[in-house]
Amino acid sequence: MNFIPYGKQVLDIEDIDAVVETLNSDYLTTGPKVKAFEDALTAYCNVKYTIAVANGTAALHLASLVLLNKEDKVLTTPNSFLATSNAILYACAKPIFVDIAKDGNIDLDLCEELLKKDPMIKALYGVAFSGNMLNQKKLKHLKDTYNISILEDCAHAIGAKDGDVQAASCVNSDVSILSFHPVKHMTTGEGGAITTNSKELYEKMLILRGHGMVKTPDMKPWEYEMRELGFNYRITDIQCALGLSQLKKLDKFIKRRIELVKVYDEVFKNSIVTPLYTYDGKSSYHLYVVQVDFSKINISKEDLFNQLREKNIGIQLHYIPINKQPYYKSLGYGNEHTPMMNTYYDECFSLPMFPKLSNEEQGYVIKSLFEILHG
Ligand SMILES: Cc1ncc(COP(=O)(O)O)c(C=O)c1O
Repeated sequence: MNFIPYGKQVLDIEDIDAVVETLNSDYLTTGPKVKAFEDALTAYCNVKYTIAVANGTAALHLASLVLLNKEDKVLTTPNSFLATSNAILYACAKPIFVDIAKDGNIDLDLCEELLKKDPMIKALYGVAFSGNMLNQKKLKHLKDTYNISILEDCAHAIGAKDGDVQAASCVNSDVSILSFHPVKHMTTGEGGAITTNSKELYEKMLILRGHGMVKTPDMKPWEYEMRELGFNYRITDIQCALGLSQLKKLDKFIKRRIELVKVYDEVFKNSIVTPLYTYDGKSSYHLYVVQVDFSKINISKEDLFNQLREKNIGIQLHYIPINKQPYYKSLGYGNEHTPMMNTYYDECFSLPMFPKLSNEEQGYVIKSLFEILHG
């Protein structure tokens, strides 16, 4: 069996043709494809404004610069890729790591307890972990009651829904971000996007994407003005041509992910492997996370990883708690009371989940996993 990673892109000849067409066109960067991709994302996510950028981290950075002030306290999750809380630090604000709930998302009830006590908490950065959106009713309650800024990191969640609310539609948040890294639902190589319903935030972030530079019709032909300290976070037309082509297939990709989810759900029923959550019609399943209580069996997590790797199966752990990373420890983090996250880290891992995973490969993953777990 060839190596089976936990996630992987799906590219076809249409995607390749779309990129080649752009390579042969007049614009390689900041041409018609960027705008077309932004418009297509705006329609798909059911939001007012989209800014496509170089990657999801750049999206988080720009969002943080417009949402946060220096020293603001920001509630966030330890269960994410480093980029989520790093962006809070980029804005010289202070992440506060809150424990997770059973589904791996930040515990919004704990967030409320903290918000009641501390008026210096100005924002909440939640992640729609594994493709499972934050509870929108609770999010709305927190936004309405505590007047905080909310960012939804939807890097895992394009295509997900909570009731009528589409991921990255910003119905109950100020800004959402997306990532188009190849392991995500759709790819542009590297790439990301920011979505918002606020014209004011949109205009600020747009300027920051391009060096803080502004050019208006009343200026002389050679003139431009730098009004902010911005960045080059542009995405290319080449990438957006790929993104447009991928976006057309996104629903098909998610449908295949759900087929795989249902097979996993079925085989893990009444077994020692417990899915983090089973099919619920909401998640868009970037990850399929399972939980095993290693204290009750004769194999350690490390041995399981090694033995599956020997069988060419790349299970992965999403994530090491961010607050326990050496850099965060050097800032004084690491001793937060996060019992759920600690158990999650001890017991959970992600199984292969991507549209191109064949039934045969999935069967091989399941068989190998059970063989190793049962010794
Ligand atoms: C939850 C989350 N947020 C942000 C990012 C950053 O996205 P990018 O890799 O496109 O910079 C990632 C990427 O892995 C992610 O998983």
